[in-house]
Amino acid sequence: MPATITSIAHYFPPDVYTNHYFEQYLETSDEWITERTGIKERRFAKNGATSDLIVPAARECLQRRGMKLEDVDCIIVATVTPDHMFPATACVVQQKLGAPNAWGFDLSAACSGFLFALVTAAKLVEAGGARNVLLCGADKMSAILDFQDRAQAVLFGDGAGVALVEMSDDPELGIIDHILHIDGEGGKYLYQAAGGSAKPASYETVANREHFIHQEGQAVFKAAVKGMADVSVEIMEKNNLTKDDVDWLVPHQANLRIISATAQRMGLPMDKVMVNIDKYANTTAATIPSCLSQWWEAGKLKKGDKIILASFGAGFTWGAVYMKWSL
Ligand code: UT7
Repeated sequence: MPATITSIAHYFPPDVYTNHYFEQYLETSDEWITERTGIKERRFAKNGATSDLIVPAARECLQRRGMKLEDVDCIIVATVTPDHMFPATACVVQQKLGAPNAWGFDLSAACSGFLFALVTAAKLVEAGGARNVLLCGADKMSAILDFQDRAQAVLFGDGAGVALVEMSDDPELGIIDHILHIDGEGGKYLYQAAGGSAKPASYETVANREHFIHQEGQAVFKAAVKGMADVSVEIMEKNNLTKDDVDWLVPHQANLRIISATAQRMGLPMDKVMVNIDKYANTTAATIPSCLSQWWEAGKLKKGDKIILASFGAGFTWGAVYMKWSL
């Protein structure tokens, strides 16, 4: 029997920042951002930390399932913007939620964080190591964005998606297959230089703006187009899925051009692709669970739908998951 997602919810902070917001002080334009990325607006949290994005989504997720806080076994937080280097944000979430019997940990895989954590949670549940995992993909990207750099400030947003992973009660439905990769050779193209043990915080690191994101956009773009499309096609072939079999592609939302290229390689029309980058930009670990939650809430995601989740991000990390939706 496979593990599956038994509940899902998301949270975006209320404050909307359109592309015009950046036009006021950076040399950029709504046209450039829209054409190059597909982004029109994003949300930034004015206060609070990543855990504060997670908690409302986690409460909603548990409430939808009718699960008591005492019954939560494990909390995994996928994020690159933890509240602190330590303790783990999972501990903060456990305390803020008040889930007295949960253990948990954080998982760092950048934009692939939700996929890597989903596979980890599924295998933990399938092996009997936990009855359920509260799986949180969340990032407060505004905490590490250089708002003076037009090449990154416009790309990201803040948000959270939370899924509950439990054993499926139907052997046909749930998380069926995965292909995941890392390649540290890609590390030099997308990283946060300082603040870790390799380069602890100092006056110089602050002066040199090394606590913000560093991204070489084109290098990441090229690798992302190939990596996400290749792995999505590979998981289709491995599971004998034709383009007509696939109901939904749920891609990481970094750039609409990367998403379209992946859909094209899979032979899928864009109406089978979940896209929320236009309204929320790249929310890193939150893109995939927030799409799933929004589409499920809108009644567009149906029980039995065959879906492929696909991601590419810093590391490099990338992969795909094939699941049959069970809600
Ligand atoms: O989620 C994690 C993984 N991340 C990704 O997958 C992101 C992958 N990369 C991308 O999505 C794209 O590379 C970007 C959206 C980041 C950039 O788009 P691009 O088409 O690759 O543009 P570029 O970096 O080649 O820059 C083209 C020009 C440059 O000007 P020059 O050198 O041609 O004069 C940039 O300085 O566009 C300029 N530019 C901007 N212009 C207006 C860069 N950012 C902006 C901006 N507004 N915000």
